[in-house]
Amino acid sequence: MPAYGIIGAQWGDEGKGKVVDFLAERADFVVRFSGGNNAGHTVINDKGEFALHLVPAGIFWPNCTSVIGPGVVIDPAALLEEIDILESRGVDTSRLIISDHAHVVMPYHVQLDQLEEMARGDAAIGTTGRGIGPAYVDKIARAGIRIGDLLDAEYLKGRLTSVVASKNLILTKVYGAEPIDLNALYSQCLEYGAALQRYVTSVEQRVSDALDRGERVVLEGAQGALLDIDHGTYPYVTSSSVTIGGACTGLGIPPQKIESIIGIYKAYSTRVGAGPLATELEDETGEHIRDVAQEYGATTGRARRVGWFDGPAAAHTSAINGFTTAVLTRLDVLDGMPSVQICVAYEVDGKRIDRFPSLPGFLARAKPVLEEMPGWTTPTAGVTELAQLPKEALAYVNRIQEIIGCPIDLISTGPKRHESITVQPIISDR
Ligand code: IMP
Repeated sequence: MPAYGIIGAQWGDEGKGKVVDFLAERADFVVRFSGGNNAGHTVINDKGEFALHLVPAGIFWPNCTSVIGPGVVIDPAALLEEIDILESRGVDTSRLIISDHAHVVMPYHVQLDQLEEMARGDAAIGTTGRGIGPAYVDKIARAGIRIGDLLDAEYLKGRLTSVVASKNLILTKVYGAEPIDLNALYSQCLEYGAALQRYVTSVEQRVSDALDRGERVVLEGAQGALLDIDHGTYPYVTSSSVTIGGACTGLGIPPQKIESIIGIYKAYSTRVGAGPLATELEDETGEHIRDVAQEYGATTGRARRVGWFDGPAAAHTSAINGFTTAVLTRLDVLDGMPSVQICVAYEVDGKRIDRFPSLPGFLARAKPVLEEMPGWTTPTAGVTELAQLPKEALAYVNRIQEIIGCPIDLISTGPKRHESITVQPIISDR
């Protein structure tokens, strides 16, 4: 004991990178358990600004071992590039370990992700195009290649031969694309294996032993609960288990080892890609928020869709994760707005619905029932004490707290580590 789960509570991009970096100061391990390099975690610290995609945000702290767990899918080229960039900027990556069970995102997964999206036409999901969906499909179909396989030349050869034969049928017969060159791919995989070998290990045991010793393990979620394959706005979701349950399966730790489950909420909503966003602001207010917050994807650079805080959606993710505490990020983005609004229910086909209807057709017809609250003129940007928050901003925080049903213990008022208000320490002193 104990592990601390950090879970994105909306559609991703809630600011988990900053929060994990902030909490990692008091942690021994920071572990990614799901997703892949579709994630983009921005961290700003004394070494500069970093966009992490696969490497856990604990990498900046010398006290932390950073772990990429079995439930993650790894594009070796992307990971090696990220490690190179970190090293070239003076970040020591020798405390990174990678699970031999994690699945590999192969070049054909990236290709298939893009071909499948094109084939979907108007019904495209708006994926990040990083091959994440096809890699998870192969994992479940038992046609995946795992990181450990890259270190076993003989096994890899046999495995790749059978997998590539079936991929080539799909590429050539369904999409009219060029077949994969098996030998070239095999050589490339061996090179990846050699380059990653020093990081690869059985991480389950390391994490389990650490928990038995009472060390602190931060579980770094990726994406947001509304993109969860089971609990999100299917089919406009990612292909992994984003919620706290995914941390147990994706890492192999028992649930009772998790002491706190921390929901990360942004003070308003954003979404990248297609799918319903009931509170979407397609007007000047939305533009203003996007502009002030620079809401552009850290992975793809796409402009994020922006909306008011969606209360029923937030209450839904709080319930399915059992958040014990929450973090509210980017409060400062709303500084100076004459008023702010919170969605407290929806109106669908003339009826008021108080709970989150995750079915996309239903949600697409849902009109938000908005509660207006006064804005604040005194800025919250950079504030570090609760008592310094303008009373209107505090009322806004309190209203969100009431909706999600758990205490907001940390409020982020800017991108830098110290621009935070600690209401209650989330990870206590030793
Ligand atoms: P995929 O994960 O690339 O398959 O994309 C599926 C959906 O999840 C798309 O709408 C993406 O924009 C969205 N998505 C995936 N990763 C992230 C993330 O880290 N932040 C926000 N949206 C994401």
